Order: sequence, then C-alpha cells, then structure tokens
Amino acid sequence: ASLQMFVDELPQMPKLYGFSLRAGKPAPGNLVVGMFEKKWKFHRDLPATTVFAFGTSAEDATVPGPTIEAIQGIPAYVTWQNHLPQSHILPWDPTIPTAIPKNGGVPTVVHLHGGIHEPQSDGHPDAWFTSNFRETGPTWSKATYSYPNVHHSGNFWYHDHAKGLTRVNLLAGLIGPYVIRNPVLDAYLNLPSGPEFDRHLMIFDRSFNRDGSLYMNYTGVVPSIHPQWQPEYFGHAIVVNGKAWPYLKVQRRKYRFRIINAANARYFSLSLSNGLPFIQVGSDGSYLPSPVQTQTVVLAPAEIADVIIDFSTSSVNEIVVNNNAPYPYPGGSSVDQLNSKVMKFIIAPGKPKVPDTSKIPTSLVSYRATPTVDGAVKKRYIVFYEYMTPSGDPTHFLINGKKFSDPVTETPKSGSTEVWEVINLTGDDHPLHVHLATFQAIKVQDLVNVAQFNSCMTTKNDAIACNVASYVTGKLTEVPRNERTWKNIVKIAPNTQTTVVIKFNLVDTNSPFPFDATAEPGYVYHCHILDHEDNVMIRPLKLTS
Ligand code: C2O
Repeated sequence: ASLQMFVDELPQMPKLYGFSLRAGKPAPGNLVVGMFEKKWKFHRDLPATTVFAFGTSAEDATVPGPTIEAIQGIPAYVTWQNHLPQSHILPWDPTIPTAIPKNGGVPTVVHLHGGIHEPQSDGHPDAWFTSNFRETGPTWSKATYSYPNVHHSGNFWYHDHAKGLTRVNLLAGLIGPYVIRNPVLDAYLNLPSGPEFDRHLMIFDRSFNRDGSLYMNYTGVVPSIHPQWQPEYFGHAIVVNGKAWPYLKVQRRKYRFRIINAANARYFSLSLSNGLPFIQVGSDGSYLPSPVQTQTVVLAPAEIADVIIDFSTSSVNEIVVNNNAPYPYPGGSSVDQLNSKVMKFIIAPGKPKVPDTSKIPTSLVSYRATPTVDGAVKKRYIVFYEYMTPSGDPTHFLINGKKFSDPVTETPKSGSTEVWEVINLTGDDHPLHVHLATFQAIKVQDLVNVAQFNSCMTTKNDAIACNVASYVTGKLTEVPRNERTWKNIVKIAPNTQTTVVIKFNLVDTNSPFPFDATAEPGYVYHCHILDHEDNVMIRPLKLTS
C-alpha cells in the first residue's frame, strides 16, 4: 500500500543567521553546525526513518537542515562538525574512488553550492573528516569555513561532498538551504517577503521500506564490477521540506517560493493543476533581467528556481503541484501515480488577512557582466561520456575521458572569462556544476553523426583532433528565457553542444575575486547527478594567477 498524499503540513526549516547585529548593523557571524544521526518522520503513517541531519544539536537537526541566512558582503564563519556513527546507514561501494577512513566512521565535508569563497573553504572531496575530526582526508586544512558572501543576493544550498560518498550522504539527509540577501535590493524590488510569504521548497525523491528505513537498491547494476553502485537513484515518494507529498495552507495573495531540486538524479518538470502560471524571478544564485511567466519549471538536480505564485487569481481552492519529467531525463520512464504529484496548496477563501502590498516589478536585476564570447581568453571542450558493458549497462561516466585523479587540465586565470563548449555524447541530460564560477548557456546545437564522433572521441579523447566542428551542424535550440541569467547549473541535453560563457570573477561588478582563488586544494567541476559524480564525472579545477 502506498502512503496517503497531502496529509502532512509543509514544514518550515529552522533558521540560522550567518551574521550578528552590532548596534543594529549586520556584522560577521559565527555558526557551529553539526551532522547527526537521528530519526525523522517523513510521513504521518510511516515509522520514523534513520537519517543523517544537519543542526545545532541532535534534537533540533532537520532534513533538510536549517536555512542559513546571510547578508551580501557580511562574512559568515561556519564550523561544520561530524557527529556521525562508525558506520553508514546506506550501502556504499569501495570499487569507485571513495574516501575510506582507516578507523571507520562516515567521512563528510560540506560544500556551499554556488558560493564564492577560497578553495580551503570549498568542501573539496578529499578534505573530508570523520567524527570529531578523528581522521581527515589528504586535502583537509581547516575546521572553520569562511564564506565572504561576496556573491550577489540569491539562492544557494549546502550539502556533503565527500569523495565517492556524496550520493549516499545526501540520500541520508545531508542537505540544507542557504540564502544571501541584500536588504536594500529586497526593499526596492518589493517581492513577497517575510517568513510566511517567502518560503523554501526543497524537493527530493526517496523510497522507503515498510519499517520506515530508506530503501536503496543494494546490488550494483554490474555487480562483477561495482557490487553496489547504481547509475541513478530514483525514489517513488516525492518529499518537500522533509515530508512526503505535504500540503501548505495559503491565502489569496502572492507568495515567493525558492524551489531547490535536491534529488540525486531526478529532474522535475513542475506545473500547477489549475493552469496557474509561475512567475519566475530568479534562477540559481541570480535574478532574471525581468520576470518570466511560465506554465512549467524544469529543474535538474541541484538547480534552483525562484518563483512567484499569485493565488489571488485562482478559480479553485486546491492546487496540486504536478511533475511530469521522465526519469532518467529526458528519455526514460514516464512518471507514475506517485512521483507525478509533489504537494498541494490549499487556498483559504476570501481576501487575505492583511492586504498584499508586494509587487512583481516589470524589470528585476541586470548584472554588469554580459553573456557574450567577447573577451573570453580561452575556449575549452568539455565532453561527457558514458562507458557501458557489451550488454549495455553503464559502468562509469567520465569527463574528457579522464578520471578525477588524472592531472588537472582546467586551469583558468582568476578574474578571466572563458567559453566552454560542453558536448554530451550520452543519452541522458547532465547538469553541469562548476564550483566558484558563475556561467550561462548562450547556444545549444544538436550534433550529427554522433556514433562516429563518439568512436573517435573514445579513442583520441580530443575534440579538435576529432574535427568537432564537422559534427556540430544540427539544429539550434533556444535557451529558455527563465534560464537566461548567471547560473550554477546548466542542463546539457543529450547529443548536443552547449556553449557556456563562464566567469571566474564577480558578475555583478565584473571585478576580480577578493581572495586568493588560486590556493590549494583548488576546486572541482562535475555532473550534479550524484551517482554520476561519484563514479567519476568530476574533474579538478585549479585557478591560476
Ligand atoms: Cu552542489 Cu560540487 O556541488
């Protein structure tokens, strides 16, 4: 039997403030955030589930973790602590490159996704640590991370990033929202605000056993090679802010929702059952130049949409948020009864309690940096491959035919702009995520003769030697208007080349980073389907001066 939908109220995650107030003015803040094993109720009728959760104590830890509130330009210092047990609650796979401590424990390291900060605070996959820092990975250097919050205001999230364990550590619950606000800009834009009308929706999919425990397929897709690793985790229950198919009671007015896809591998294509549109104002860590009205919002894993929904125009009092993204995306199975529903809004009849004075302005924010190839100092080809057994089962994924442990090849100059031609030779869409950088797709073109190009690439591993230009001659696809801004995730569709302008500076002022981005251990870039990232669609990124 499956769980009844829409019986649990949407939780509001607790808030932590990454700043302090001195004489009424924001000043740098210090936080200590731990990772704890605990029990979490995902649904009224499901026994409590053992999870790993972020919080300031085991009692107040939540899944997702607390929302960290930061103010643009005000540094936050966060000490991430590991209080996890000796062994993992989920199966992991030692045959993929993995952090394996000598004395047991669960390796973790935290990455602020979309954050602009020094490499030592980036959560490098080898900078892991176990409980009480008893053991640390080869690139670990400090316990307290420094986040200068120099990114313009926008939406981010934090999550584990330990080598080879990211997929299981996030499945276990190690995720949470992070927002950078600019109070002056917020007052000027006058979008719906305050804890009641400006909400996070952190969405992921999970399957559960009858006893409430997380279900994961314990047998690898090719057990002779990888006894546990599966190419994508898909769960049947859709969980928002830690409850399966919750409901939220709303008033007849505008609300702002910061929607984060925190799934391992599932894409969401969201729409509202009564045909009401989303008015999208932001994408990942940036605003759009002007609001975009859209019936559907498609989010890859780790992608964020910042939307307004105006319930005052609804003719009905109950609205279901639907999902119809196939999985894997875009060519996989169709959604079923369970994963086609996300949550429900229940609209109170009559006027809102207090008149809605928020506005949707005609224009939002334009950043100083322009998304053109002019001024780019370097063009790189970034090629995604999938490796299969003769029977067609995936064994691993690579970028440019290289492993994570192969020497660094992406060494952009700090402060520079580059163009990355990102080529996807697989049948699935892959979300590209580059640490530190901010980037946007400007052109998407289909490849022709993909099989021939693929066979050249798998022997030569060099796009230019394979005469890449002769394959990039197919039809052009528009970048959707609600994704035309400075992003932290760009979806790379199968059999296409996506041209990405990528900035290794601050895009709102077009000025250099105010810290040494060239320090060790550097950064990484990867596919944000976590099961791919772990095996091993991830590469080092090392800035140079
Ligand atoms: Cu959201 Cu490298 O990760």
